[in-house]
Amino acid sequence: MRHVVMAVCVMSMLAGCAPKEVAERIVNVYTSRHYAQDDALYAQFTKQTGIRVNVIKGEGPELLERLVREKNSPSADAYMTADAGMLHRAKSAGVLAPLDEDTVRHVPDRWRDRDRHWVAVTKRARVIVYNKARVSAQEAPQTYEALTEAKWRNRVLIRSSGNVYNQSLAASFLALWGEEKTKQWASGIVTNMARPPKGGDRDQAKAVIAGEGDVAVMNTYYLGQMLNSTDEQERLVAQQLGIVWPNQETTGTHVNVSGIGIVKGAQHATEAQQLIAFLTGDEAQRQFAATNYEYPIVPDVAPSELLRSWGTFREQTVGASVIGENNAAATKLLIETGWK
Ligand SMILES: [Fe+2]
Repeated sequence: MRHVVMAVCVMSMLAGCAPKEVAERIVNVYTSRHYAQDDALYAQFTKQTGIRVNVIKGEGPELLERLVREKNSPSADAYMTADAGMLHRAKSAGVLAPLDEDTVRHVPDRWRDRDRHWVAVTKRARVIVYNKARVSAQEAPQTYEALTEAKWRNRVLIRSSGNVYNQSLAASFLALWGEEKTKQWASGIVTNMARPPKGGDRDQAKAVIAGEGDVAVMNTYYLGQMLNSTDEQERLVAQQLGIVWPNQETTGTHVNVSGIGIVKGAQHATEAQQLIAFLTGDEAQRQFAATNYEYPIVPDVAPSELLRSWGTFREQTVGASVIGENNAAATKLLIETGWK
């Protein structure tokens, strides 16, 4: 393209065409992250590097299908999605290329793919919340397993088995507990559901406060978003919720990631590497925590004030690669228990 434009300029030199830099630096990102805060980070990246970020948003599976269709001539340079399971599916579909070691060296091993096909950019914990008006802190379930006890019959709110956050939760249990116990757990949850699953994590929290159930499972950043929402109703709901960091005495709280990889055959792979270095760099890591209430994946970046106010917690030690690899088995298992 550059040659063509230059040639046109040479030909029209006499007509006063001043030669100029025409090759725009760009990186095309397919992303399933739906947070406005990401756009502010892209704008900062452009300011720092001059590289424009062209963002194409969609659902994780839909964007992955597109990557597969475009395999021979990819129009995306990077694929970003909000779950280890989806990242693993992209790797298995053969649409990602390994990242340079230099780009990901500062990220702990457990937060990147073992073959460097993707790297995490943020962490999120999946916790238990309860209605403080109806459940005391002492009474609240302290473990994921406790949600299956008879006392919580018809009181548990959780979204569908089609949701990748729940698939990853079950995938982590497969790694920690094995198949039989994971299946028992999932059946126990189905038995205790307050209603057939519907809506997202925030809807479960709202249903808890509306009295449809008493406890729910949700990702921490949704709680942060609700506490800081411009919608007063959302703030009120979040303020009435208590949080439990499950399994602190045993296997730790489930942690999932958002992550990014470079598309195989990408035309702007260099720019994509630069973007990934930026997103996993200290400044972007601080901002993910401060504005979207996600946990940094880089150990020397401290979480934001709200996250610190929730205290420190013990994480599961299951790596993001394993969560991804167990996704298919976990999904099958959840469906078999009748989890809608
Ligand atoms: Fe989400």
